[in-house]
Amino acid sequence: MDNIMVIGAAGQIGSELVVELRMRYGGEHVFATDIKQAPPDIMEGGPFQVLDVMDDKQLIHFIIRHKINQIYHLAAVLSGNAEKLPTQAWKINMDSLMNILEVAKMVEEVKKVFWPSSIAVFGPTTIRRNTPQLAVMEPITVYGISKLAGERWCDYYYNKFGVDVRSLRYPGLISYKTEAGGGTTDYAVEIFYEAIRHASYDCFLGEGTSLPMLFMPDAIKATIQLMEADRSRLTIHSSYNIGGMSITPAQLHKEIQKQIPGFSIRYNPDFRQAIADSWPQSVDDTIARIDWGFEQKYDLEMMTKIMLNEIKNKLNT
Ligand code: SER
Repeated sequence: MDNIMVIGAAGQIGSELVVELRMRYGGEHVFATDIKQAPPDIMEGGPFQVLDVMDDKQLIHFIIRHKINQIYHLAAVLSGNAEKLPTQAWKINMDSLMNILEVAKMVEEVKKVFWPSSIAVFGPTTIRRNTPQLAVMEPITVYGISKLAGERWCDYYYNKFGVDVRSLRYPGLISYKTEAGGGTTDYAVEIFYEAIRHASYDCFLGEGTSLPMLFMPDAIKATIQLMEADRSRLTIHSSYNIGGMSITPAQLHKEIQKQIPGFSIRYNPDFRQAIADSWPQSVDDTIARIDWGFEQKYDLEMMTKIMLNEIKNKLNT
């Protein structure tokens, strides 16, 4: 049985991925790490350690000591926050990835790496509907530039050193367990909390802003599916497009109103509007479907019902 390390286990993706990986591979085989403490189920359901991925010495010791075979590196500064601290965000996003790629190159036991990319690798000169896998890529955000550079490094380490690194260009991810932090697609999570807490929401994107989104269970399933796929089937070694559903704030508002009829929304676009306007509205994921069987189960209606129920439970309302 492989030993698996998750970096960023307290984050939006990590806090759900760790639980799923532990169910599949056994708690003792999934080593959760983060720069900070994680939710109780993550810290108690198997090994957990506070670890800074920027510290390459600590990282390599951990990987050797625990005989790690697979690494999921999820720690990153997201798009909105990265615009506020560009040089720091660049350093964190790039240096952490380089540390992981170097470790995977040096330590023979490390067989596979997962690293998330994003729709942010695209920019305003990219075709915005049904954006193909191979397209013009001129990202205008620090986050997008770091993800595009990261993709090129992943491809480079695969070709040059045979490092088996796998990646998805996630669309916006919608989840109820852990809130995202500092992203442009975060509105699509915040809107549910505010609908339940205050029956009103101040949206930082305009009503017609269409972005691709995916419900977290679909994202977790896709991530593990890609990592479990037979290596010989994979034709993309930068990062796979995965689509999801194109959603606007107005559509989410209307869907939530089916259950909270008095829910009102005001639109006050901020600096993140320009970021959203530079990203695809929908993404062509044909290659992911062919290579390793990507499929999406949840649509807007199903997702909205689950989000509202779960958040109501969580907030005890
Ligand atoms: N969801 C991310 C963000 O908004 C994009 O990958 O920053």
